[in-house]
Amino acid sequence: MTMYLNEEEQAMLNGEQGEVVKAAMEILVALGNLYNADRLIPIKSAHCAGLSLKSHGIAGMEWAEDMAKKGGKVRVPTTMNVVGIDRSRDLGLPSDWVEHQQRIEDAYEAMGCYGTSSCIPYHYGFLPKFGEHIAWAESSAVVFTNSVIGARDNREGGPSAWAAAITGRTPNYGFHLDENRVGDILFDIQVELNDIADYGALGNYVGKLVGEKIPVFNNLGNPSTDDLVYFGAALASAGGVAMFHAIGITPEAPTLDEAFKGREYETIVIGEDELAQGYKNLNASKSKDVDFVALGCPHFSLNQIKEVADLLKGKHIKEDVTLWIHTNMAIKAMAKQFGYLDIIEEAGGILTQDLCVVLSTPESLGLSTLATNSPKMAFYAPGGNGLNTWYGDVESCINAALTGKWEINK
Ligand code: F3S
Repeated sequence: MTMYLNEEEQAMLNGEQGEVVKAAMEILVALGNLYNADRLIPIKSAHCAGLSLKSHGIAGMEWAEDMAKKGGKVRVPTTMNVVGIDRSRDLGLPSDWVEHQQRIEDAYEAMGCYGTSSCIPYHYGFLPKFGEHIAWAESSAVVFTNSVIGARDNREGGPSAWAAAITGRTPNYGFHLDENRVGDILFDIQVELNDIADYGALGNYVGKLVGEKIPVFNNLGNPSTDDLVYFGAALASAGGVAMFHAIGITPEAPTLDEAFKGREYETIVIGEDELAQGYKNLNASKSKDVDFVALGCPHFSLNQIKEVADLLKGKHIKEDVTLWIHTNMAIKAMAKQFGYLDIIEEAGGILTQDLCVVLSTPESLGLSTLATNSPKMAFYAPGGNGLNTWYGDVESCINAALTGKWEINK
């Protein structure tokens, strides 16, 4: 099926609104035809990802600069995902890396994107509403907007999110359609989930099992918003999950009937063994000597930063351990206002701004063994950064930063 274009969209494709709009329309038409979309639909916002130098490369950087030079401008509020540098400080990363990464950010900002550079733009003003069509990339953000908010979003790639931002449209397929938002498999949780690390371990275990299907959870406990952010990030990284339902918690699943809409489904029971396997999957280190502790993937909320500050107050991290806590510029500014930043810095930690450790190069600083509270970072860092990795709760990670040793508490 060839996707229908209205008169204005056809003119955009013909180049009547310039070369950049034409290039963006070509991406959307190719995507729409590939997925049998009937038409384009208007979007309320976009979130561009894949902006790190690791993803863009030099060729991608030059392409973005060319699009900006040719007058490319976004038509809807568009945020930028995390990058591989912290623009507020020198972390000692290679200077050409920093310069090239900065050029990518400058190009997208020139096209009208907000250089807020975070995977949690919904925490600082860019909050979609229920039922709204959006075009966001970044898997951890997509699973949150679809599942927890009930917005409608495909797991966009960097080019398609950019094209949607430039045109204000996206092809009508996938999670924009009711029939593709129905649950596939039921997970009956028969183990107590006590903290955010348990949610991350469960998300990893289930993500590996379901791939891109839509899991439905019964008895998910009483998760906080932060728990759901980390749970979704684990599902999306270990699998390709873009949407989940939690009965009585997420807006499109008040009941099992609503979640499955009459579809037959398999039930899988999750007990202590399965949760333990989730932890096992995320722990890929043998040495208990930790030289790097990284928290905040997805970026930490203010409440999570306060938890770290409370644990660090009056203490100092071990001399040869590096502690990075990741958040964005908005939440960092609040952390400064409330005194949490001072506590972290006095303890020897660094609260980074807009940085993604996975997309950066901590390995270039000679760091080798990581402790993290992030199920996503623990999944990617061994392969992506060559780091030996421990996964656990925030308290275990801070203890590792203070002592240089990993003590398993699960
Ligand atoms: Fe965000 Fe990077 Fe983690 S994008 S979720 S900090 S891997």
